[in-house]
Amino acid sequence: MNHEVSFYVDAWAKVKNDLEIGAIDVLPLVGRTPERDALFDFSVPYLVMHGAIVVRDEDDSIHSFADLAQKSVLVMQDDNAHEYLLRKKGDYKIVSVPSFEEALKILSQGKHDAVVVQKLVAVQLIAKLKLPNLKIVSANIEDFRQDFSFAVHEGDKELLAILNEGLSIVMANGTYAKLYKKWLMPFDDKNPQLENTIKILVSLLALLVMISAVGLLWHRSLKKQVALKTRQLSESKNQLAALNDSLHHRIQNAIAELKEKDQLMITQSRQAAMGEMISMIAHQWRQPLSIISMIANNLSLEAELENNLENSQIQTALQEINQQVQHLSTTIDDFKNFFKPNKEKQSLHVSQIVDDTLHIIGSLLRNNTIEFITEIEEDREILIYRNEIIQVLINLINNAKDALQGNKNPKIIFRAFSDEKGLHLCVIDNAGGIAPEILSKLGEPYVSTKALSGTGLGIYLSKMIIQKHFGGELTWQNLKNGACFCICLPQ
Ligand SMILES: Nc1ncnc2c1ncn2[C@@H]1O[C@H](COP(=O)(O)OP(=O)(O)OP(=O)(O)O)[C@@H](O)[C@H]1O
Ligand SMILES: [Mg+2]
Repeated sequence: MNHEVSFYVDAWAKVKNDLEIGAIDVLPLVGRTPERDALFDFSVPYLVMHGAIVVRDEDDSIHSFADLAQKSVLVMQDDNAHEYLLRKKGDYKIVSVPSFEEALKILSQGKHDAVVVQKLVAVQLIAKLKLPNLKIVSANIEDFRQDFSFAVHEGDKELLAILNEGLSIVMANGTYAKLYKKWLMPFDDKNPQLENTIKILVSLLALLVMISAVGLLWHRSLKKQVALKTRQLSESKNQLAALNDSLHHRIQNAIAELKEKDQLMITQSRQAAMGEMISMIAHQWRQPLSIISMIANNLSLEAELENNLENSQIQTALQEINQQVQHLSTTIDDFKNFFKPNKEKQSLHVSQIVDDTLHIIGSLLRNNTIEFITEIEEDREILIYRNEIIQVLINLINNAKDALQGNKNPKIIFRAFSDEKGLHLCVIDNAGGIAPEILSKLGEPYVSTKALSGTGLGIYLSKMIIQKHFGGELTWQNLKNGACFCICLPQ
């Protein structure tokens, strides 16, 4: 794994202290105990050993841990066994020496009563030191099981990861099995039970290390994936922010554009209304003006012929002229009132509304020789904004008048009737109907078949007025001979 490592061998207490004070980075074969957990971090365990009690051959008084009471027990200074005995707080005397070799030798020489040590270590040392007068009792001290791992400084996660990875590699490639066979197997021959235990132990360890190796690899790939996803997320976030920004701009622009269009529409509709008003005033004025002109002409003719005009003749002519001027003035007032928006609703009969409408538009119809028929089922009184309803009716009648151009028998019927939906005011003509190509779009702004002479706002604005001001509906349909536009006012 390309790591330079230097080793040295020393007494357990010394190397353990070296790790504690940071003089070394890692210590192998360290049994994991609660005391040590507080000081070090541990790799996955790669060896599990149980503690055993070693006594002299002739000693028959010690068979289990409980039998150590009142005895003098040897341990290696600061070893697991030492910590274990201290932890158990038994009624024994603990004698600590620097190494197991020494402990076993002292025991063999007849001093003290027992050594508490890992069983594998005991078997190996008794053979190596040739101490035949020693025997192992209590093969497995029940709760003195030790997991041996590499120990590193508390928090040194990086080194721990390297060690765990190394362990998983040697487990996977068979090195661990070879080492185990070379150093630990010789003792197995002597003890078939131990062999089984070790086999199980090795399988378990292999499994454990495999799991931790898989875990490590999984952890790494997970880390990579998390990093990738985090990067992607932050990229998406940036893109989203940019999109948001541009969206905000686009919305602002669209709103500004809409406002501009609205403004344009209002101006156009006002201009159209002004144009309509002027043309209607012109229509209304044509008759009285020609009467005035006629009276004036007659007067001047008579003056030429008679030379001496009677005062009474002049008076009559002037009265007539005055009457016509009054008529002109009333017309102006009518239009002025009509173009002033109503602030309050008025209570009006249906017939009154029709009359007031005809007052404004009647001469236009007469000039176009259009027959206007009124069919009112029931002349009810309704509460309404007068000018608005008249404006809508004028729009509808004007449209009918336009459509009736060139018609031999032009007719407009105004029909009023009530049903469960409300009061219906309909304008029906015999001009052949609405052109099919605009039928589905009618009601939207700028829909017109009149080229330059129409703005295409009449029906749209009428619909708005009926909906917004009266909470009603403006609908249309083609009948057999012409179009039918109906205002429905809820009761
Ligand atoms: N009574 C009708 N018969 C046949 N077509 C009609 C009738 N009323 C309206 N239309 C059609 O509907 C179109 C839209 O009418 P609208 O009143 O909205 O606009 P316009 O009359 O064209 O222009 P303006 O805005 O000046 O009134 C007309 O151009 C016409 O084609
Ligand atoms: Mg119109």
